[in-house]
Amino acid sequence: MSTAPTEFDLIVIGAGPGGYVGAIRAAQLGLKVACVEREPLLGGTCLRIGCIPSKALLESSERFYEAQHTFAAHGIKLPEVQLDLPTMLGRKDNVVATLCRGIEGLFKKNKITRLTGHARFTGPGSISVEHAGSAAEYRAKFILIATGSRVGSLPGVAIDGQRVTSSTEALAYPTVPKTLIVIGAGFIGLELGSVWRRLGSQVTVLEYLDRILPGADAEIAAEALKLFKKQGLEFQLGTRVLSAKADGDGAVVEIADKPALRAERVLVSVGRVPNTEGLGLDAIGVQLDHKGRIPVDKHYATKAPGVFAIGDVIEGPMLAHKAEEEAVACVEQLVTGYGHVNYDVIPSVAYTHPEVASVGRTEEQLQTAGVAYRKGKFMFRANGRALAMGDADGMVKILSDAQTDRILGVHMLGPRVGDLIAEAATAMEFGASSEDLARTCHAHPTLPEATKEAALAVLGRVISS
Ligand code: NAI
Repeated sequence: MSTAPTEFDLIVIGAGPGGYVGAIRAAQLGLKVACVEREPLLGGTCLRIGCIPSKALLESSERFYEAQHTFAAHGIKLPEVQLDLPTMLGRKDNVVATLCRGIEGLFKKNKITRLTGHARFTGPGSISVEHAGSAAEYRAKFILIATGSRVGSLPGVAIDGQRVTSSTEALAYPTVPKTLIVIGAGFIGLELGSVWRRLGSQVTVLEYLDRILPGADAEIAAEALKLFKKQGLEFQLGTRVLSAKADGDGAVVEIADKPALRAERVLVSVGRVPNTEGLGLDAIGVQLDHKGRIPVDKHYATKAPGVFAIGDVIEGPMLAHKAEEEAVACVEQLVTGYGHVNYDVIPSVAYTHPEVASVGRTEEQLQTAGVAYRKGKFMFRANGRALAMGDADGMVKILSDAQTDRILGVHMLGPRVGDLIAEAATAMEFGASSEDLARTCHAHPTLPEATKEAALAVLGRVISS
């Protein structure tokens, strides 16, 4: 029998990056905290079946690709390179297990009570947690909903987990599919499409829009498209998928105004939907908005007293780090009276090769808003370190206010730009101008020098090209 207390200061529902970070921050601030999670492992989609396992596979598949295609240019000759897919998948599972165990340790260290089961509101300040046929009641002064999101689909697309799959199954195909159709050229489609392409699949990406990576800076997305095509990914843009279903030992995808396509497997990556089903929101009078999200005010408070929501279940990009920041701000606001997220500085990264990263506003957004801006660009092919790495595709682009020179947006395509974008985010958080970046001493030869050079280009005085 559990001896856990049934009264808490804060109950967090969901142990993903939003939930576990919020729970830990609240415990650090002295609250008595419980976190409810229905899955056996802590960490949520991001750790178990999202960000982390996909990055593990992106790393492994990139090494496999390099061993086959780029080592020779470095003067490294290998006998035939072979794929050991079970080992590659097993390594990914170990990375996930290590991180999930780490969160269990953090919960213990911070004296957070872990409640296993499905949480449902029974009234204001109270939830029931159902697990294996039994239910227990818990009460708290504050309850934070951090239940995240799940895979979305399209009408007519029947995800069966075998032939027509979501990202979850695409992290563990038991064999390399000869042919793979990816529906949607967003983050998931491009990342997992890249993984299986590198491992040998013939990959066709179908995208409704006439571009990839909706929301990314258009110039960067167009450059990225050229590079992905060179890697052998095939794209059909302006293509509306009507249906997809299993058919014998493969799947058939019907497309508007074009012949149907067939592949061994299909990956559906057309977005995600908030997880709000079965939460009993009716019991506390919370109604969802037109996209199924929970409406909140600027302190993440829902209409129900003492009930808050953050992350994928509320408005905004469905990104782990956005959820983390919101959870911290929400909890700090509750305890200290202060808590804030700067939504102008939320970076976003596609971990393809090369990576695509951005923070702040795109050129298109600035044009639409009528903001006068200056632009500086620097190509990685003129960066010494990128050339030494043999990885010199792409560019850094900085947009700054035409009058004040304050940086408004930074967009990158290139090696490790998912890491490089942090410098841009820091600069923007401090309200830096492009001149501030340009006058900051950067170690030579390093990739971040491309950022400095792009800042110099805004000022019209680039050195290295
Ligand atoms: P997404 O919203 O990034 O992209 C979905 C794509 O599907 C869009 O380009 C859309 O135009 C296309 N589409 C929609 N309907 C279609 C149709 N009928 N036919 C063809 N194409 C169609 O969604 P995705 O990739 O599934 O990712 C889900 C969420 O997970 C996103 O919010 C993303 O931010 C997040 N995520 C973030 C990652 C990262 O930060 N690196 C990695 C993976 C996911």
